[in-house]
Amino acid sequence: MLLKNLSAEDAQAIANLHTKAFNSFFLTSLGNRFLKIFYQTIINEPNGVAIGIFEEKQLVAFSIGTLKKREFYSDILKKSAFLLFWAAVPQLIRHPKKIFRLIRSFGTKETENKEILESACLLSICVDPSMTNKGYGTKVLSAFEQKIFLKSKKISLTTDAEENDSVNYFYLQNKYILLCSFYQSNRKMNLYYKCYEN
Ligand SMILES: CC(C)(COP(=O)(O)OP(=O)(O)OC[C@H]1O[C@@H](n2cnc3c(N)ncnc32)[C@H](O)[C@@H]1OP(=O)(O)O)[C@@H](O)C(=O)NCCC(=O)NCCS
Repeated sequence: MLLKNLSAEDAQAIANLHTKAFNSFFLTSLGNRFLKIFYQTIINEPNGVAIGIFEEKQLVAFSIGTLKKREFYSDILKKSAFLLFWAAVPQLIRHPKKIFRLIRSFGTKETENKEILESACLLSICVDPSMTNKGYGTKVLSAFEQKIFLKSKKISLTTDAEENDSVNYFYLQNKYILLCSFYQSNRKMNLYYKCYEN
């Protein structure tokens, strides 16, 4: 097993794993090219943090986030809006309603809590579906936390509140605290946080 920081060169492997692990999610439906550019942009941000676990040179788990939640998505959009839009065009032509969903996804205000907004955020975590429940998720999350807690005292994350018990359980097991729930369109989301402990 190799655990290491991911670079923009790993973006294709990240997009491939995302597609496998987040099978029926909206961002996945925008296509593999969109995901590659999305993750490349996050990793290239000065505040971006990305950790991966490899088995036999294959990426099997990753955790990706930012040291500062506030305006992270708008910064990404400022830098890569055209590339992201262009990569998603084939899907958007087929399903034009996705344009509004995309705008909503990037634009949802999850919280006004200043401390959360100024702190770090886990944007995406997943494990190869054939390798879940073996401790990889916990390992890649705790490596992410170790790196983040060098510079930020808090990490927040959001996940679906409904029909997502195992993931909510995973975060609770990893000592995340539920701050609030909110709606993104008609999707109920949970906002969790974890504080640095000495
Ligand atoms: C959520 C997710 C990242 C968890 O990763 P994971 O590797 O399955 O999680 P872990 O194995 O570390 O821990 C989960 C459970 O697995 C089991 N487990 C942990 N280590 C284990 C081991 N060595 N052997 C067997 N089972 C183990 C445990 O039951 C653990 O729960 P516990 O802490 O009560 O014991 C993964 O399921 C996933 O990628 N899901 C799809 C994508 C997704 O929804 N991501 C979250 C978006 S917000």
